[in-house]
Amino acid sequence: MTSDSSSEQKAIWRDAIKNPRKAARMLFSAAILAAPAATCGAPPPNYCADVKPVITTKCATCHGSPLQNGAPFPLTTYAEVSSHLERIKFRINLEAGQMPPANQPQLTAAEKTLITGWIDKGAPQGTGCQ
Ligand code: HEC
Repeated sequence: MTSDSSSEQKAIWRDAIKNPRKAARMLFSAAILAAPAATCGAPPPNYCADVKPVITTKCATCHGSPLQNGAPFPLTTYAEVSSHLERIKFRINLEAGQMPPANQPQLTAAEKTLITGWIDKGAPQGTGCQ
């Protein structure tokens, strides 16, 4: 613990004595801020278990084998997907010119977060699929 945060703690205790309601509010928001830390131990998403099912449904209709509708490359295996990670991350997060194209079933916000987070965490393959 740094000296900064310990003087901050002393200030919190001083406040708590003077103003218990405010102190209760602060403790409550501290608890909310700390809550996401509990999920830090969860394993990161992996391709086989989490990402492949989404790409199969929302991308491989065009980025399949054979390729459909002018898609430039297949996205049907880990090797194929992992050779286009930065482009995938870029295109799925665009507001316009996004992938899938605007007239197609779109990724949900949760699916975008999943794939983006997976790429940011090094795009692990997981086991049990190609
Ligand atoms: C309806 C067909 C279709 C679907 C569905 C689709 N794509 Fe595409 N994709 C294309 C076409 C056509 C292109 C080439 C034209 C372009 O880049 O816009 C393309 C290009 C791309 C590119 C290349 C961009 C570049 O930099 O060259 C990426 C990456 C991509 N798609 C990823 C995806 C991902 C990921 C999904 C699913 C979330 C997806 N696409 C769904 C048709 C599709």
